[in-house]
Amino acid sequence: MSFQNVTVAIAKGRILEGAKTLWQQSGLLWPVDEDSRQLWFAPSPERPGMLIARARDIPTLVGMGIADLGIVGLDVLEEYPNNHVLQVADLKFAQCRVVLAGQKNQWPEGPTRIATKYQRIAQTYFTIHRHPVEMVSLSGSLELAPVIGLAPYIVDIVDTGNTLRQHQLTEIATILESSARLIANASHWRTKPELEHVRHLLQHEE
Ligand code: ADP
Ligand code: PRP
Ligand code: MG
Repeated sequence: MSFQNVTVAIAKGRILEGAKTLWQQSGLLWPVDEDSRQLWFAPSPERPGMLIARARDIPTLVGMGIADLGIVGLDVLEEYPNNHVLQVADLKFAQCRVVLAGQKNQWPEGPTRIATKYQRIAQTYFTIHRHPVEMVSLSGSLELAPVIGLAPYIVDIVDTGNTLRQHQLTEIATILESSARLIANASHWRTKPELEHVRHLLQHEE
Protein backbone atom coordinates (compact mmCIF):
# COMPACT_ATOMS: atom_id res chain seq x y z
CA MET A 1 0.00 0.00 0.00
CA SER A 2 1.30 3.50 -0.81
CA PHE A 3 1.89 6.29 1.71
CA GLN A 4 1.61 8.94 -1.01
CA ASN A 5 -1.69 10.24 0.30
CA VAL A 6 -0.90 10.25 4.05
CA THR A 7 0.49 13.00 6.31
CA VAL A 8 1.41 12.58 10.00
CA ALA A 9 1.87 15.54 12.39
CA ILE A 10 4.36 14.84 15.20
CA ALA A 11 4.91 16.93 18.36
CA LYS A 12 8.39 18.38 18.85
CA GLY A 13 10.51 17.33 21.86
CA ARG A 14 10.11 14.03 23.73
CA ILE A 15 7.33 12.79 21.44
CA LEU A 16 9.51 13.31 18.35
CA GLU A 17 12.37 11.33 19.96
CA GLY A 18 10.07 8.42 20.91
CA ALA A 19 8.33 8.52 17.54
CA LYS A 20 11.69 8.17 15.78
CA THR A 21 12.40 4.84 17.52
CA LEU A 22 8.90 3.50 16.92
CA TRP A 23 8.90 4.69 13.31
CA GLN A 24 12.24 3.02 12.53
CA GLN A 25 11.21 -0.22 14.30
CA SER A 26 8.15 -0.21 12.06
CA GLY A 27 10.38 -0.24 8.97
CA LEU A 28 9.47 3.28 7.90
CA LEU A 29 12.14 5.67 6.64
CA TRP A 30 12.82 8.51 9.16
CA PRO A 31 13.70 11.70 7.27
CA VAL A 32 14.17 14.14 10.18
CA ASP A 33 17.77 15.29 10.62
CA GLU A 34 18.35 16.62 14.18
CA ASP A 35 20.71 19.32 12.88
CA SER A 36 18.22 20.63 10.35
CA ARG A 37 15.41 23.14 10.88
CA GLN A 38 13.17 21.44 8.31
CA LEU A 39 9.60 21.05 9.62
CA TRP A 40 7.86 19.57 6.57
CA PHE A 41 8.69 16.36 4.67
CA ALA A 42 6.72 15.46 1.57
CA PRO A 43 5.39 11.87 1.36
CA SER A 44 7.48 9.28 -0.48
CA PRO A 45 6.81 5.64 -1.43
CA GLU A 46 8.76 4.56 1.73
CA ARG A 47 6.92 6.73 4.26
CA PRO A 48 4.03 9.16 4.84
CA GLY A 49 4.50 12.91 4.66
CA MET A 50 5.49 14.41 8.01
CA LEU A 51 5.12 17.73 9.72
CA ILE A 52 6.78 18.69 12.99
CA ALA A 53 4.79 21.11 15.16
CA ARG A 54 4.26 22.30 18.74
CA ALA A 55 2.44 19.69 20.84
CA ARG A 56 -0.57 21.90 21.61
CA ASP A 57 -1.14 22.52 17.87
CA ILE A 58 -1.29 18.82 16.88
CA PRO A 59 -5.04 18.36 17.73
CA THR A 60 -5.87 21.46 15.63
CA LEU A 61 -3.77 20.34 12.64
CA VAL A 62 -5.35 16.86 12.67
CA GLY A 63 -8.85 18.17 13.46
CA MET A 64 -8.68 20.50 10.44
CA GLY A 65 -7.44 17.65 8.23
CA ILE A 66 -4.10 19.38 7.48
CA ALA A 67 -2.58 16.12 8.72
CA ASP A 68 -4.45 12.77 8.56
CA LEU A 69 -2.73 11.35 11.64
CA GLY A 70 -0.94 12.83 14.65
CA ILE A 71 1.33 11.69 17.48
CA VAL A 72 0.88 13.58 20.76
CA GLY A 73 0.54 12.99 24.52
CA LEU A 74 -2.86 12.20 26.08
CA ASP A 75 -2.25 15.17 28.44
CA VAL A 76 -2.30 17.50 25.42
CA LEU A 77 -5.44 15.85 23.97
CA GLU A 78 -7.26 16.33 27.28
CA GLU A 79 -6.10 19.93 27.59
CA TYR A 80 -6.90 20.87 23.96
CA PRO A 81 -9.82 18.59 22.97
CA ASN A 82 -10.99 18.53 19.37
CA ASN A 83 -14.30 17.06 18.16
CA HIS A 84 -12.88 16.10 14.77
CA VAL A 85 -10.11 13.92 16.24
CA LEU A 86 -10.19 10.18 17.11
CA GLN A 87 -7.66 8.35 19.31
CA VAL A 88 -6.72 5.26 17.33
CA ALA A 89 -3.79 3.76 19.32
CA ASP A 90 -1.91 4.00 22.60
CA LEU A 91 1.74 4.04 21.45
CA LYS A 92 2.93 3.42 25.05
CA PHE A 93 5.96 5.73 25.05
CA ALA A 94 6.33 9.15 26.79
CA GLN A 95 4.60 7.65 29.82
CA CYS A 96 4.04 10.12 32.63
CA ARG A 97 1.36 11.35 35.06
CA VAL A 98 -0.36 14.69 35.50
CA VAL A 99 -0.39 15.21 39.28
CA LEU A 100 -1.32 17.64 42.03
CA ALA A 101 1.84 18.37 44.04
CA GLY A 102 2.72 20.56 47.00
CA GLN A 103 5.15 20.99 49.88
CA LYS A 104 3.28 18.50 52.10
CA ASN A 105 1.31 15.38 51.22
CA GLN A 106 -1.87 17.15 52.21
CA TRP A 107 -4.92 18.16 50.21
CA PRO A 108 -5.35 21.99 50.22
CA GLU A 109 -7.42 23.39 53.06
CA GLY A 110 -9.95 25.90 51.70
CA PRO A 111 -9.55 28.04 48.56
CA THR A 112 -6.05 27.89 47.12
CA ARG A 113 -3.90 28.97 44.23
CA ILE A 114 -2.67 26.41 41.66
CA ALA A 115 0.12 27.04 39.16
CA THR A 116 -0.18 24.91 36.02
CA LYS A 117 0.15 24.64 32.28
CA TYR A 118 -2.91 22.33 32.32
CA GLN A 119 -5.64 24.83 33.23
CA ARG A 120 -8.47 22.79 31.75
CA ILE A 121 -7.43 19.45 33.29
CA ALA A 122 -6.82 21.11 36.68
CA GLN A 123 -10.05 23.13 36.63
CA THR A 124 -12.13 20.04 35.72
CA TYR A 125 -10.47 18.07 38.53
CA PHE A 126 -11.15 20.72 41.20
CA THR A 127 -14.69 21.31 39.94
CA ILE A 128 -15.42 17.58 40.35
CA HIS A 129 -13.99 17.80 43.90
CA ARG A 130 -16.01 21.01 44.51
CA HIS A 131 -12.87 22.75 45.67
CA PRO A 132 -12.45 26.49 44.90
CA VAL A 133 -9.13 27.33 43.22
CA GLU A 134 -7.46 30.24 41.50
CA MET A 135 -5.33 29.23 38.51
CA VAL A 136 -2.02 30.82 37.61
CA SER A 137 -1.02 29.85 34.09
CA LEU A 138 2.68 29.11 33.48
CA SER A 139 4.15 27.43 30.39
CA GLY A 140 7.02 25.50 32.06
CA SER A 141 9.33 25.25 35.12
CA LEU A 142 6.23 24.70 37.27
CA GLU A 143 8.24 23.37 40.22
CA LEU A 144 9.49 26.92 40.78
CA ALA A 145 6.04 28.19 41.78
CA PRO A 146 5.94 26.93 45.43
CA VAL A 147 9.65 27.77 45.97
CA ILE A 148 9.23 31.42 44.96
CA GLY A 149 5.86 31.84 46.72
CA LEU A 150 3.81 32.15 43.52
CA ALA A 151 1.41 29.30 44.39
CA PRO A 152 1.52 26.61 47.12
CA TYR A 153 0.34 23.85 44.74
CA ILE A 154 1.09 22.85 41.16
CA VAL A 155 -0.55 20.59 38.59
CA ASP A 156 2.22 19.25 36.36
CA ILE A 157 3.83 16.23 34.70
CA VAL A 158 5.78 13.71 36.79
CA ASP A 159 7.80 10.78 35.48
CA THR A 160 10.68 9.72 37.77
CA GLY A 161 9.76 12.28 40.46
CA ASN A 162 13.31 13.74 40.39
CA THR A 163 12.21 17.27 39.57
CA LEU A 164 9.64 17.30 42.39
CA ARG A 165 12.17 15.92 44.90
CA GLN A 166 14.78 18.51 43.96
CA HIS A 167 12.27 21.20 44.91
CA GLN A 168 11.08 19.49 48.13
CA LEU A 169 7.69 18.80 46.57
CA THR A 170 5.54 15.72 46.98
CA GLU A 171 2.76 14.13 44.93
CA ILE A 172 -0.68 14.53 46.51
CA ALA A 173 -2.94 12.99 43.85
CA THR A 174 -2.72 11.56 40.33
CA ILE A 175 -5.10 13.34 37.97
CA LEU A 176 -4.27 11.62 34.65
CA GLU A 177 -2.01 8.79 33.39
CA SER A 178 -0.60 9.85 30.03
CA SER A 179 1.30 8.28 27.12
CA ALA A 180 1.79 9.06 23.45
CA ARG A 181 -1.33 8.50 21.34
CA LEU A 182 -1.87 8.06 17.62
CA ILE A 183 -4.77 10.29 16.61
CA ALA A 184 -6.65 10.58 13.31
CA ASN A 185 -8.89 13.08 11.57
CA ALA A 186 -12.30 11.44 12.06
CA SER A 187 -13.57 11.77 8.48
CA HIS A 188 -10.20 10.86 6.89
CA TRP A 189 -10.11 7.74 9.12
CA ARG A 190 -13.38 6.61 7.53
CA THR A 191 -12.37 7.35 3.95
CA LYS A 192 -8.63 6.52 3.74
CA PRO A 193 -7.78 2.84 4.35
CA GLU A 194 -4.05 3.71 4.23
CA LEU A 195 -4.39 5.25 7.71
CA GLU A 196 -5.25 1.89 9.26
CA HIS A 197 -2.14 0.50 7.54
CA VAL A 198 0.08 3.12 9.28
CA ARG A 199 -1.59 2.38 12.64
CA HIS A 200 -0.92 -1.32 12.10
CA LEU A 201 2.78 -0.70 11.35
CA LEU A 202 3.28 1.59 14.37
CA GLN A 203 1.65 -0.93 16.71
CA HIS A 204 3.86 -3.77 15.42
CA GLU A 205 0.81 -5.99 14.96
CA GLU A 206 1.19 -9.31 13.19
P1 ADP B 1 6.72 20.50 26.27
O1 ADP B 1 7.53 21.59 25.64
O2 ADP B 1 5.26 20.59 25.89
O3 ADP B 1 6.95 20.35 27.75
P2 ADP B 1 7.95 17.87 26.09
O4 ADP B 1 8.74 17.32 24.96
O5 ADP B 1 8.66 18.13 27.37
O6 ADP B 1 7.23 19.18 25.54
O7 ADP B 1 6.75 16.90 26.43
C1 ADP B 1 5.99 16.31 25.38
C2 ADP B 1 5.04 15.27 25.94
O8 ADP B 1 5.81 14.22 26.56
C3 ADP B 1 4.12 15.80 27.04
O9 ADP B 1 2.93 16.33 26.46
C4 ADP B 1 3.87 14.55 27.85
O10 ADP B 1 2.88 13.74 27.23
C5 ADP B 1 5.21 13.81 27.77
N1 ADP B 1 6.15 14.17 28.85
C6 ADP B 1 6.46 15.38 29.33
N2 ADP B 1 7.38 15.32 30.30
C7 ADP B 1 7.70 14.01 30.44
C8 ADP B 1 8.60 13.29 31.27
N3 ADP B 1 9.37 13.91 32.16
N4 ADP B 1 8.68 11.95 31.10
C9 ADP B 1 7.92 11.32 30.20
N5 ADP B 1 7.02 11.94 29.39
C10 ADP B 1 6.92 13.27 29.50
C1 PRP C 1 8.94 17.77 32.53
C2 PRP C 1 7.84 18.11 33.54
C3 PRP C 1 8.57 18.02 34.86
C4 PRP C 1 9.59 16.92 34.59
C5 PRP C 1 9.14 15.66 35.25
O1 PRP C 1 9.75 18.90 32.36
O2 PRP C 1 7.29 19.39 33.29
O3 PRP C 1 9.20 19.23 35.21
O4 PRP C 1 9.66 16.73 33.17
O5 PRP C 1 10.02 14.58 35.02
P1 PRP C 1 10.67 13.79 36.25
O6 PRP C 1 9.55 13.40 37.18
O7 PRP C 1 11.30 12.59 35.60
O8 PRP C 1 11.66 14.69 36.91
P2 PRP C 1 10.61 19.20 31.03
O9 PRP C 1 11.98 18.63 31.20
O10 PRP C 1 9.87 18.74 29.85
O11 PRP C 1 10.71 20.78 31.06
P3 PRP C 1 9.59 21.88 30.67
O12 PRP C 1 9.20 22.53 31.97
O13 PRP C 1 10.32 22.80 29.76
O14 PRP C 1 8.47 21.17 29.99
MG1 MG D 1 8.35 19.46 28.87
